[in-house]
Amino acid sequence: MTPALVRQAAAVATTATLAALAPAGHAQTAAPLKVGLMLPATGTYAALGDMIEKGFKLHVQEQGGTLAGRSIQYFKVDDESEPSKAVDNVNKLIKRDQVDVLVGTVHSGVALAMARAARESKTLLIIPNAGAADITGPMCAPNIVRSSFSNWQPAYAMGVVAAQRGVKRAITITWNYAAGNESAKGFTEGLEKGGGKVLKDLTLPFPGVEFQALLTEIAAQKPDAVYAFFAGGAAVKFVKDYDAAGLRKSIPLYGPGFLTDGTLEAQGAAAQGMMTTLHYADNLDTPRNNAFRKNFALTYKTNADVYAVQGYDAAQILGAGLKAVKGDIARRDEMTAAMRKATVDSPRGKFTLSAAGNPVQDIYLRQVQGNNNEFRAVAVKALADPARGCKL
Ligand code: PHB
Repeated sequence: MTPALVRQAAAVATTATLAALAPAGHAQTAAPLKVGLMLPATGTYAALGDMIEKGFKLHVQEQGGTLAGRSIQYFKVDDESEPSKAVDNVNKLIKRDQVDVLVGTVHSGVALAMARAARESKTLLIIPNAGAADITGPMCAPNIVRSSFSNWQPAYAMGVVAAQRGVKRAITITWNYAAGNESAKGFTEGLEKGGGKVLKDLTLPFPGVEFQALLTEIAAQKPDAVYAFFAGGAAVKFVKDYDAAGLRKSIPLYGPGFLTDGTLEAQGAAAQGMMTTLHYADNLDTPRNNAFRKNFALTYKTNADVYAVQGYDAAQILGAGLKAVKGDIARRDEMTAAMRKATVDSPRGKFTLSAAGNPVQDIYLRQVQGNNNEFRAVAVKALADPARGCKL
């Protein structure tokens, strides 16, 4: 290259770089949008938090690193799935970092504290997992929405399916905290509607994994089926312990899909053939899901699961709200109204939010095959949480 050509090439490159850096439209002068990610990075739910973050960032990346023209600045707190630290942790994001939006979390007990803080400070809160009934029930608020589920939704659907499959007498087993208890209750409601009943609700404290005495009790009672709510590292251990206790062949193990999502490689043979209900299945053969899974796997060298989908959709819901106000988050009422009006084009299938801010969605019956939770049927179509106690 002659010196003149070199100069010319450099000039072109500089112009191109500047053009790539300049945000479009309204946001030309706007500061980055501050997104506070409050998720577990340690403990039994650590992998779930990681997948949510990956999913959220993937959607932002697919939009060229911006949402409605606003670049994103992330602030992160590890909530440890520890309710006693939740108020301090959420205030790090609200008061110290002054985030525009809170995204979190996995554990219902921690999310309840986040919802209280969001109501008081009027900070926008998007919940990418925790299913606590109260959040979209008595505590519902315009500035709080979920991209995930209520604990009742997959649980109720599993109860309906179990009754259809002839289960008359079941035992539930879970951790004694909001998500576990609400899940057991939802299953009982679905099962009773179909003529079955729950003999006993077995519990242990979160995040305990000492299942042996409870498995002995199940073996003695010989129910037609067991319904279990566990997730993350503990779900791996429970499914393996259930198999090792010799119960898998004689007493079918059912659960919400959390029992087998993101866990199958570690559960191996112990999980094969298990039926669960959830708002996602790995092999949903739609262009939307296939494209999502392909990009996720390319970006992160690992396969997406339901938590990744929920993180991705949290970003989609935020994007829909921001788009309606052209990135101006100060127009919060218009923004939250737009989020509730949006049809979210999710890898799980399209869904909308209820007035209470919870997805109205199909719940699928899935079966474990190798390392996938494979779609078998729609267990309940367009299931809306009852949103008991929500006055909006
Ligand atoms: C919850 O605490 O609401 C919770 C945690 C993990 C799950 C599902 C629900 O997989």
